[in-house]
Amino acid sequence: MNVIVVKDYEALSKTAAGLIQSQLMWSPDSVLGLATGSTPVGTYKVLIDLFKKGEINFEDVVTFNLDEYLGLEKSNEQSYYHFMRENLFNHVNVNEDHIHIPNGISDDFEQECLNYESDIVKAGGIDLQILGIGHNGHIGFNEPNVEFEAKTHIVSLDEETIEANKRFFDSVEDVPKKAISMGIKTIMRSKKIILMASGQGKADIISKLVKDDIRPNLPASVLHLHENVIVLIDEAAASKL
Ligand code: PGA
Repeated sequence: MNVIVVKDYEALSKTAAGLIQSQLMWSPDSVLGLATGSTPVGTYKVLIDLFKKGEINFEDVVTFNLDEYLGLEKSNEQSYYHFMRENLFNHVNVNEDHIHIPNGISDDFEQECLNYESDIVKAGGIDLQILGIGHNGHIGFNEPNVEFEAKTHIVSLDEETIEANKRFFDSVEDVPKKAISMGIKTIMRSKKIILMASGQGKADIISKLVKDDIRPNLPASVLHLHENVIVLIDEAAASKL
């Protein structure tokens, strides 16, 4: 695990965007794995700025998002589909047909999960996966203390995740209790991974991630088994290392 500490959130966002930009320079048709949540918002802002300046091109890029809430229509402001449109896709030249986000409204979730996996394989696998980390150590919605699911699957959200995400909803009751998420193997098959974290609130979990062993109550710890992981954090998130 390669840990890179930068000064603050702004530096974190610029560094992550720079790594994505380099990836696209080498390989303009890269498959990017994308994340939602507060952490990557700044990175997406920098990518939009780079696009406006003509310094990055998403024309041939293919994207796969990590997860989506179950039961929220695409038009719902809290859906991750909406999040991605607002925070990135509406502002860059990514091809509509190249965007993949798990479908939270389906008659057949089993098939939906299988299709998502086979779409990733057909695209040649994920070249660069961006991850956040939950306070509970989750990646995507792979929650602690449940058996790891290898592939895209339906999850029941952890109480801590529901608490953490209620800030985006009117009340805690409105937070969906289930989601569709890439599995641990889906994530681990990515050729490169950048896990990002910012702020004092993530200092405990980052310290556990970096110092502790691989264990099921800290799903992100599985990344120790991956050969090409950058843990990109700011000084506040690194303060307990
Ligand atoms: P955050 O979420 O970026 O909003 O902290 C990270 C996560 O839950 O994976």
